[in-house]
Order: sequence, then C-alpha cells, then structure tokens
Amino acid sequence: MKKIAVLTSGGDSPGMNAAVRAVAKKAIYHDLEVFGVYRGYEGLMSGEIKSLKLEDVGGIIHRGGTILGSARSEKFKTEDGQLQAMNNLNNFGIDALVVIGGDGSYRGAQALHKKGIKTIGLPGTIDNDINGTDFTLGFSTAVNTVIEAIDRIRDTATSHERTFVIEVMGRDAGDIAAWAGLANGAESIFIPEKTTGKEGMIARLKQGFERGKKHSIIIVAEGVGTAEEFADYIREHSSYDARVTVLGHIQRGGSPVGFDRILGTRLGAKAVELLMADVAGKALGLEKNEISVHDFDYVFQKKASKRLEEFSKLSMELSM
Ligand code: F6P
Repeated sequence: MKKIAVLTSGGDSPGMNAAVRAVAKKAIYHDLEVFGVYRGYEGLMSGEIKSLKLEDVGGIIHRGGTILGSARSEKFKTEDGQLQAMNNLNNFGIDALVVIGGDGSYRGAQALHKKGIKTIGLPGTIDNDINGTDFTLGFSTAVNTVIEAIDRIRDTATSHERTFVIEVMGRDAGDIAAWAGLANGAESIFIPEKTTGKEGMIARLKQGFERGKKHSIIIVAEGVGTAEEFADYIREHSSYDARVTVLGHIQRGGSPVGFDRILGTRLGAKAVELLMADVAGKALGLEKNEISVHDFDYVFQKKASKRLEEFSKLSMELSM
C-alpha cells in the first residue's frame, strides 16, 4: 500500500478534522502518499481528489466541521456511482481509503471494500448511534454544546418561572438527550429507547412547581417527536404554559472538546497502522478506552441502550 485517501461523509461532527489530520500526518510519517477527497462520496465520484501535504492539515485540530467538506449521497448507493468512484481511485492509484462518518458512510465503505479498495471506517457523528464504540466522534462536543445552551435557557426559565421543552438532535438515538438531560438535571427526558408516558411529565411539573421549583426543563430527543407536540400536550393538560427551543444545527458545530480531539487523533492514526498491516474492511471504535476493530456487519447491528435507560431512570430519581 503506497497511496491512501481520506474522506468525511454524512452529517459533519466536531473532531473530524482531528481525525483527518491524524490520518494524513501518520501516513506522511510512514512515507505514504495521502489524498483528501472533497465533499464525501459525491467528490469521490466526481474526482475531487487532491494530494494532502503537511501544511494542508496544520492548524485544523481545533476547528469544527470538516476541511474536506461533506455530503449525503444518494447516487453513491447505486452500482454506477460506485463504479465511477472506483475509476477515480484507480486513476489516482489509490488502494486504501479511510471513511469518517456514520452508518450510511460505513455502508459505502463496505461496498468499496467488496470491490477491492482497502477501507477502514471511523465513527464520525454527533448521534453516538454506532454499534461497537462507546463514543462516536463529535458526540461529547455536541453534549457540551447542549449543556451550555440549556444552562442559558434555565436562567431565563427561572426568572420567569417557566417550563421549557427543548428538542435535541440524535436521529433515532436518544444519547444526546439522555446525557445532556442527566448533566442538566432535567425534570423529564424523552428518548426513543425508553417509552415514557406524557402523563408522568405533567404530574412531575405540578409536583415541582407546588414545592417551589422556579423552572422546569423537559428534553425531547428528535427521534421521539417534536418539542412543539410536547408543549401542546402540557398546555392542554395543565395550567402551565410551555416555551419551546429547538437547538438544531448549533449542536453540530463548534470547536471539538479535548475528548473528541484525542479520539479523532487515536482513531485516525490507528486506521493508517492497520492499513499498513493489511487489515481492512473494518470499523474502528473506542471500547473501555481501547481502540476496537470490528467487521462492518457488526457495527450495523443496533446499539444496546442499557446506559441510556440507566441515565433516564437516574434523571427521574434525582430531579424530584
Ligand atoms: O446524523 C447527524 C444529524 O445531525 C442528526 O442528529 C440529524 O437528525 C441529522 O443529522 C440532520 O441532518 P441534516 O443536517 O442533513 O439536516
């Protein structure tokens, strides 16, 4: 293996740049030629592939987003799209590719691997929804962003003795909601992994305000429903008003926290080491603080939600 490429795909996440930097620097350190593919699989199909030098990846470890750009590609799911990508990789003489992204990005990496490109996947998504890793790249930063935002909301909620329903991202996973909820001392958390009736929320609201609480924070993972639906329920079933905040894409941006910089760095460097040892067709993760290596099929399985259930239960117990 002499030429290695790296791309970021799907929703961007803080820490992707740290991983790109580590892949490039580790490869250059070992005298490999390294290429950046711009705009994910879209750029792979259209040939947006450029050589990466040390200066291209300098000063990026602290930056949010991804210097390579990202895209969600429908076309790459087709045989035609994949053959176009293979053509471009062959033209550049690239035989190994590191893909940083979520579930959809991994499926693309697996398809290319089956066509003869040595691929390694790194879990880059704020959702923390990939099996075979305790944490995905960007999740910790996103949780911190949500925590800070909710701290601010709590200030105004307390001044006005209000209830706020806050909707957070996560697609079908409740990790961001459960972690931020526990860290913010939220009164109620709604996540897809645990069915919780809305009646309990009303009872807790009443109980809280009756014993003198000055605010109430309810966190809803987008996979459960919209914050507006929950606010409507509160208005219909109690005398309280509810304000809504949808945190949206601020959760995806910002400088990565230390944990995501380290995670990206470790994963990126390990990917190059494995490719040099001729190990490919694998997804890397972090389990018990060790880098783990799994087949793609393993990481496509649904992630266990034990921790989320524990967090949601603990939140309920502590927020009375
Ligand atoms: O997968 C990351 C994520 O931010 C999800 O949490 C969210 O549901 C989705 O991407 C939003 O996607 P887009 O940026 O394409 O609207």
